Amino acid sequence: MSKILENTLQWVDERFPLTKMWEEHLSKYYAPKNFNFWYYFGSLALLVLVIQIVTGIFLTMNYKPDGELAFRSVEYIMRDVEWGWLIRYMHSTGASMFFVVVYLHMFRGLMYGSYQKPRELIWIFGMLIYLALMAEAFMGYLLPWGQMSYWGAQVIISLFGAIPFGIGDALTLWLKGDYIISDATLNRFFALHVIAVPLILLMLVVAHILALHEVGSNNPDGVEIKKKKDENGIPLDGIPFHPYYTVKDLFGVAVFLIVFFAIVFFAPEMYGYFLEYVNYVPADPLKTPEHIAPVWYFTPYYAILRAIPDKLGGVIAMGAAIVVLFFLPWIDRSNVRSVRFRSWMYKLNLAVFVVAFILLGVVGIKPPDEPWKTIGIVCTILYFGFFVALWLISKYENTKPVPERVEYDAH
Ligand code: HEM
Repeated sequence: MSKILENTLQWVDERFPLTKMWEEHLSKYYAPKNFNFWYYFGSLALLVLVIQIVTGIFLTMNYKPDGELAFRSVEYIMRDVEWGWLIRYMHSTGASMFFVVVYLHMFRGLMYGSYQKPRELIWIFGMLIYLALMAEAFMGYLLPWGQMSYWGAQVIISLFGAIPFGIGDALTLWLKGDYIISDATLNRFFALHVIAVPLILLMLVVAHILALHEVGSNNPDGVEIKKKKDENGIPLDGIPFHPYYTVKDLFGVAVFLIVFFAIVFFAPEMYGYFLEYVNYVPADPLKTPEHIAPVWYFTPYYAILRAIPDKLGGVIAMGAAIVVLFFLPWIDRSNVRSVRFRSWMYKLNLAVFVVAFILLGVVGIKPPDEPWKTIGIVCTILYFGFFVALWLISKYENTKPVPERVEYDAH
């Protein structure tokens, strides 16, 4: 049997670089030996991507992208399709968990300076993934054709109307494909959600990982392991990704799936945070819901939008809040990567940023009343202040000496 397998593999290898790829990206990809908890989220993001694609395919088999039928087809999936409820709840929970995982993944990048030279492109591809993910989630949310789907999309699309010189109006009309959000809008959002954006996402993820494997992973110490190699050219502080990190990541997958399915089975709506209650009412273009709020993962940006009284100003601030993240590799001018060796000012700045981002998320959920309005304005200032402070601190801070080798005690 093993001889047959061996011969088959050889046959394939002569025609396709299977073993070569396996070695390059897994069994002979040397990753730093000190990966910690924060390094679970890249592989978990991959897992959620697969969950979304597979459950999405099955949803598409019964969903109808039609203004008359969409809402009922989702109810049909929930009630009549065999295991339909499971597939739909996995997909809706997967959307929120994608953002949980990606936010933690991005925070790790901030903490350990993983965006710094030579990993700028990994970060840029990551940011493009983040943008594509937001577009994917936004368009997916229109598909159940509930009140929040409809009016949420109405609010976001009308933002483009703030662009002056008639461009905004032309753009909103072009995006909707009609004068109001209608069947035409639903159809195009469906096409983009099920094929165009997922394709872009997949290509970006491949680029993200290729860029990572070109330069090698960073680690919690921010030490470049490629600088210290043995006589065979293997990094002294590196271990083969397979089997060491495949096993570590499998543990992460197991814990993640326990949490994921606990939500799917016991709290799929997550008290209105993952699936908003108003969305169980069919879309009605003649009746605006009392309080329109986006899903939690968009609320920090929604709060920034509302913090600026002027509509165009708000849109610009919201866009800038995302765009500025692309420039992080150049805003941070330090050559010390990890938070472990940086100054207290850097740590404080990062902590304030995290608190401001979370508070903005809360503000975006609340109606625009006091004290939330003021908190929103203060946190918007703190959000942008983080980047200004980082630019200054990173030039002048007193960092600790970075060790030559990674510091790790095997237990
Ligand atoms: C679908 C979404 C994503 C997937 C599947 C994904 C996948 C991965 C994987 C598998 C790794 C290597 C394992 C690890 O370091 O955890 C990684 C590393 C990395 N990712 Fe992502 N990623 C995604 C989104 C993002 C986003 C949105 C950003 C930031 C804007 C980002 C920034 C990074 C960085 C900087 C690294 C290198 C980390 C290091 O070496 O310390 N990724 N990603």
